[in-house]
Amino acid sequence: MRLRVTPGGKLSGEVVVPGDKSIAHRWVILSATAVGRSRLVGVPASLDVRSTASCISDVAPGARPGLEAWTSNDPSDREGHGSTWNGDPSRVRHTVLEVEGEGRWALVEPSAELDCGNSGTAMRLLAGLLAATPVRSKLVGDHSLSIRPMERVALPLREMGAEVTTTEGHAPIVIEGGALRGIRHEMQTPSAQVKGAVLLAGVAGEGETTVVEPIGTRDHTERALAALGGPVRVDGTVVSVARFQHEGFTATVPGDASSAAFLVSAAALTGSELTIRLVGLNPSRLRFLDVLARMGVRTEVRIEREELAEPVGDLWVAPCDGLVATEITADELPLVIDEVPMLALVASHARGDTWFVGAGELRVKESDRLSGLADGIVGLGGHAGVEHEDLVVAGVGLRGGTADAHGDHRLAMAFAIGGLAANAPSTVSGIEAAEVSFPGFTGTLKRLGATVELAS
Ligand code: S3P
Repeated sequence: MRLRVTPGGKLSGEVVVPGDKSIAHRWVILSATAVGRSRLVGVPASLDVRSTASCISDVAPGARPGLEAWTSNDPSDREGHGSTWNGDPSRVRHTVLEVEGEGRWALVEPSAELDCGNSGTAMRLLAGLLAATPVRSKLVGDHSLSIRPMERVALPLREMGAEVTTTEGHAPIVIEGGALRGIRHEMQTPSAQVKGAVLLAGVAGEGETTVVEPIGTRDHTERALAALGGPVRVDGTVVSVARFQHEGFTATVPGDASSAAFLVSAAALTGSELTIRLVGLNPSRLRFLDVLARMGVRTEVRIEREELAEPVGDLWVAPCDGLVATEITADELPLVIDEVPMLALVASHARGDTWFVGAGELRVKESDRLSGLADGIVGLGGHAGVEHEDLVVAGVGLRGGTADAHGDHRLAMAFAIGGLAANAPSTVSGIEAAEVSFPGFTGTLKRLGATVELAS
């Protein structure tokens, strides 16, 4: 499916983005492995989270009815799934996921292969959970997921005592889980998915499990475990856990900060003022705001409350009257890993050359985002190139043109938003990929006033 984007005009209104995918994967797993009833409000209907829910329902019989009821929700409901509203917050529609957990020890052998679809987070987190479960399981994924590196998660889980066999470093992964021992794992590549997997295995292991990160990545797993009363110690980039069984809990999933990044950028590129409500404001997810601030975008964060130790509130964007280039260093890059596509499109409209240094990890995301971004920006009439592991985007603007999402949700959305500030209309092919993390993306843009039209 293609999206035709016509530039011009400002956006206006207040908006709510769908629930945070990263947080939802973790909370769905934690609800199904809790002892007792959990109630999760606002779990996003994004395809990735559906993958986690359907895999976990195969191994957690107690939680299955609740998970199945939620996954079988009419997908046409997605559009209304808390995506936008102009006005009264009580009018935001949310689905509720209620599950009866029987504890981690009650997990059973899956009846079939567990299909993680397009989701690296689902596959890696589930690998951690299943490594600690005395059953045999096989994790599979779509073509894009099947070429992503899996040894980085298999290695520490093997060291903990699980039998983990990858297919030449990739999915399918076969796991023979069982009794695990705590380890100290020094991560080579920063990855919140690997950290999350090791911590989920660690809470079922003997003794203490410690993860040392080269740089502090998103901390949703450790926040949730600590909020549930777990023995979690965090000292800078060193996180330790010990054996622990949590109980059922109630929480509302905050809006996805990475989805909000697209709308913040849309506001910046069109000189609009915008407020994103009820969004997750965890600092480990907001580094993109620092990058945008350096580029000339003024924003304000207003925390209202916490949900399972996750700060939630409003994100306000001031009208922007000019963008300048910046450099994203190799140290900063992992902290904006999911926002690089959007930042690169913003950079194409910012005076000067913007450098994304040491961006090689982008090659193993849902697609090769380095070459996909460079090609897409050129296709839209801009200038960008890859030099070794660096992405360089020239701020010469976009003339308008066509770009292919390569089945990648973040490329699809970044190209669409970039097109809002082009000199002429653009077409993005493969826009349906946006459903992976931002159900209702096109409708949200339309309601904010953007001129975007779907075409088959
Ligand atoms: C995620 C971690 C990041 C990120 C992904 C979600 C998570 O991946 O890119 O979208 O929820 O833990 P890596 O752990 O591979 O960096």
